[in-house]
Amino acid sequence: MRLDKFISSNTTLSRAEAKKIIKKGILINNILIKSPDYKVDEINDQVMVNGNRLVYQKYVYIMMNKPKDTVSATEDAIEKTVVDILKEADRIYKVFPVGRLDKDTEGLMLLTNDGELAHRLISPKKDVVKKYYVEVSGELKEEHLSIVEAGVMLEDGYKCKPARLEILESSEDKSRANIYITEGKFHQVKRMMKSLETTVTYLKRISIGELILDENLELGEYRHLTNEELDKLNK
Ligand code: URA
Repeated sequence: MRLDKFISSNTTLSRAEAKKIIKKGILINNILIKSPDYKVDEINDQVMVNGNRLVYQKYVYIMMNKPKDTVSATEDAIEKTVVDILKEADRIYKVFPVGRLDKDTEGLMLLTNDGELAHRLISPKKDVVKKYYVEVSGELKEEHLSIVEAGVMLEDGYKCKPARLEILESSEDKSRANIYITEGKFHQVKRMMKSLETTVTYLKRISIGELILDENLELGEYRHLTNEELDKLNK
């Protein structure tokens, strides 16, 4: 990666600011480099900025507000993936999406290269609660609350783990709700809603465990997790 990019992606400096300090000279492996297009070996080069070695981050954690029309994969021959949205400086870390959201689902997508954390968040054994906001055509009724709590039976006979439904608004034609689930079966929320004789028209993931989607992120935007957010995930 270019030196100016390496510095700006591992510090709070902008690319322009990085270029400025490179002009004055940056010590790389004890040699003074003044060229912003110097190709950094991210793992082995010792790049010093203001007396500190820039440490190449081993693990990165990215929160994205996934837009519709993107698939939860690292690559796809036809569809745009959530990884395609990332800038090159973030793609170098080879992150992958934690769990899947359907192509037409929006909301919180966590991307990381930390396989252990990803496994912990996805594994149904760990009971990490995922909150979704859902709009459906059809009526969500009081009686659905206890059905969801007991575990919805899907059309293929699979009984879902107990979940929680919070009806926000409901009429014969359409309803809105939050649903909290600990599993991530294929089309899980859509199929649960089907079993309640409604059809999902809009679905957005709001949170994974204690990690909550930053509402300042527009669709398709992303940012790195703060240390506080990471601590919450590691609890
Ligand atoms: N459940 C679904 O049906 N779709 C998603 O994208 C996520 C959960």
